[in-house]
Amino acid sequence: MATQLFDLSGRVALITGASRGIGRAIAELLAEQGAHVIISSRKQSDLDEVAATIVGAGGKATAIAAHQGDSAALKSLIAEIEARFGRLDILVNNAATNPYYGHIADTDAAMIDKTLQVNIKGYFELSSLASKLMKQGGGGSIVNIASINGVRPGMFQGIYSITKAAVINMTLAFAKECAPWNVRVNAVLPGLTDTRFASALTKNDAILKSALQNIPLARVAQPAEIAPAILFLASDAASYVTGTTLTVDGGFLAGGLA
Ligand SMILES: NC(=O)c1ccc[n+]([C@@H]2O[C@H](COP(=O)([O-])OP(=O)(O)OC[C@H]3O[C@@H](n4cnc5c(N)ncnc54)[C@H](OP(=O)(O)O)[C@@H]3O)[C@@H](O)[C@H]2O)c1
Repeated sequence: MATQLFDLSGRVALITGASRGIGRAIAELLAEQGAHVIISSRKQSDLDEVAATIVGAGGKATAIAAHQGDSAALKSLIAEIEARFGRLDILVNNAATNPYYGHIADTDAAMIDKTLQVNIKGYFELSSLASKLMKQGGGGSIVNIASINGVRPGMFQGIYSITKAAVINMTLAFAKECAPWNVRVNAVLPGLTDTRFASALTKNDAILKSALQNIPLARVAQPAEIAPAILFLASDAASYVTGTTLTVDGGFLAGGLA
């Protein structure tokens, strides 16, 4: 009974930013639980390698490249899923960008535009397209990957942190208005996780040492430790959960060790 709650057999799941890092770990876990995963990011060759690994392990995976900042590409992605599968049960909005690291007052307009375009507009547009397709199929689950920085802005990561706060509010707004369609919408807030995205922080000894002082579990997460939170929210185990945020941060938001 308990294991059936997490069974995703017969479900179709789209995971963006699934060629590496947290998105890849999510795709591998959802596929292991029986979902047919549609993995997306910008580079088709990277996606093909991940899809081959999932299929080699006995899972079902289809790789479709799309730029999260390109509205037309997102429309084509959802249209292709509808044409090939006729349904979408799960969307994990995970692909994000953090191109600027520096004092917030020095953020130039191009960096603001790019970060808003990918991290907010991309999540919003995919949520709109996906929720309508889910409605046709009787319902579904959207999981937005936000960040602890959406609650507590990261130093020198101002514009990125602002977009992650927007994702948290977007989660609540979509949850309210999509509930009548039986579409649940939730967010996961990862803490510092060992991926290429965070390597500027994790590979710098001084920054890492200072970061660990604020993490009660005193270590960085592995992507496979974030993925189970997404599985929970995507699955029937969370059938009465919508409009919530689930923090997976080693205790960071509980406060530092001092
Ligand atoms: N790592 C952390 O410490 C941490 C902490 C909190 C939250 N997060 C969040 O977790 C999510 C995943 O981050 P990660 O650490 O796993 O990063 P990652 O390892 O760098 O992976 C990022 C993924 O997104 C794809 N991507 C990047 N820009 C894209 C775009 N414009 N369009 C489509 N795909 C794009 C990348 O593939 P291509 O480059 O080939 O497109 C890749 O598959 C993000 O939402 C991030 O904000 C991360």
